[in-house]
Amino acid sequence: LASIEFDLTKVQEGQQVVIKWQGKPVFVRYRTPAEIQKVSAEGAVGSPPQTDVERTKAGHEKYLVVIGSCTHLGCVPTFGTGDFGGWFCPCHGSHYDASGRIRKGPAPLNLVVPNYEYMSDTRVKIG
Ligand code: FES
Repeated sequence: LASIEFDLTKVQEGQQVVIKWQGKPVFVRYRTPAEIQKVSAEGAVGSPPQTDVERTKAGHEKYLVVIGSCTHLGCVPTFGTGDFGGWFCPCHGSHYDASGRIRKGPAPLNLVVPNYEYMSDTRVKIG
């Protein structure tokens, strides 16, 4: 009912696809090995402090699924700018890493990981 399915073959390594779920943008990012290595090595950071493992699903670490809405005042952050190898929100300057964890700026919380599950290796159900 309130859930949607997404075919992960539509997103290439190093890219993200933005889908709409319940009126919100959801970023599905296929992370590069370098991105994963960096965010994994940092341990638990962000607000609340979380490891990358806590924000992804076992066996599917290359994909990050987050609500694409800045936790400050809801602007849509852009990937590839900012100081932490992830997203930057241009509205008031919040920096997120490639795990979507807030690292600098006014946003109070990490990008939200919605409820989702893998139907297969190439298909997720969000919601
Ligand atoms: Fe993103 Fe303010 S809405 S920093």
